Amino acid sequence: MTNLSAFIGQLPKAELHVHLEGCLEAELLFELAERNDVALPWRSAAALRAAYQFDDLQSFLALYFQGCQVLRREQDFYQLTRDYLARAHADGVVRAECFLGPQSFTEQGVPIQAVIEGTLRAMADAEREDGISAGLLVSAHRHRSEADAFALLDSVLPWADQLAGFGLGGAEVGNPPEKFTRYFAELHRLGQATTAHAGEEGPADYVRQAVELLGVDRIDHGIRALDDPQLTAELAQAKMPFTVCPISNVKLQGVESLAQHPLPRMLAAGLTVTLNSDDPAYFESSLADNYRQCAQAFDLDAAALAGLAAASLRAAFLSDEQREPHLSELAAQLAAVRAAAPAEQQSGRAGA
Ligand code: HPA
Ligand code: ZN
Repeated sequence: MTNLSAFIGQLPKAELHVHLEGCLEAELLFELAERNDVALPWRSAAALRAAYQFDDLQSFLALYFQGCQVLRREQDFYQLTRDYLARAHADGVVRAECFLGPQSFTEQGVPIQAVIEGTLRAMADAEREDGISAGLLVSAHRHRSEADAFALLDSVLPWADQLAGFGLGGAEVGNPPEKFTRYFAELHRLGQATTAHAGEEGPADYVRQAVELLGVDRIDHGIRALDDPQLTAELAQAKMPFTVCPISNVKLQGVESLAQHPLPRMLAAGLTVTLNSDDPAYFESSLADNYRQCAQAFDLDAAALAGLAAASLRAAFLSDEQREPHLSELAAQLAAVRAAAPAEQQSGRAGA
């Protein structure tokens, strides 16, 4: 695994499904709580980490939204985003498209300018200092109303041309995509790229709704789409990208174990699959960790891993000119590893 682990770390990858709120490491959470005078129910960062035990999405979101309470000032959003992008850069991520849900902050009285400006400034600095490209996806909470989503959209319009697009997250079951049909129509009218979480815990029909009613460019998670073979065939044919988060699905008990994860079945069905971390701080796993653990669990070789990374670069909201150098670098790295080692040494379980 050592050679393959290094290969994974260097492979140019796009991270397309990561929540900045979910990048809040316990130590930074405590630092910000102190700075902003926010009372916490945990005695220490270690005690907080010990609370990272989740039964489902809802139990995770309760802790995640509690963590959001410490983010109050522009500098906080800057630090959160800059720290994540530094770690991602070190992990071989060349493009990061990051969700942020401003409603958690604005409802507490945090000005929208602080949220957006702090995040965008960190992205610009990371690009200049590290060369990592980053984009902000403004995420609406589906457990809130469509009117709330429209208010969110109004509030971020001053930055519309600096955004990578818009997403839909939060508590899925009972909040189907169809609730946001008019909101997504407006996003498309404005020329924005869109994604929606669908089929993480919700049924395959939510994936169909996200595609047919919302017209999304990517499906976030989407693992439950496999329950509907007709839909699966249609989305394979359409080359709809799925931003799959295998470790997240295990941690939130959507699947029993990584070995049981439907990733191999999604690939076998011809779906366009990318790997992602979702909430790396809370799941204690980076994007490269997702690649490494999947390589191990499913015996993926260098070519399969490079295929997943190439899919992520192709599904990124980038121009072909921005994408091409990364795909060329990826092809060069795969050629180098093939030249250096016989095929039997390149699989995920070799040396394990
Ligand atoms: N699903 C929905 N909303 C989220 C998630 C998720 O996995 N992570 C952070 N917000
Ligand atoms: Zn997510």
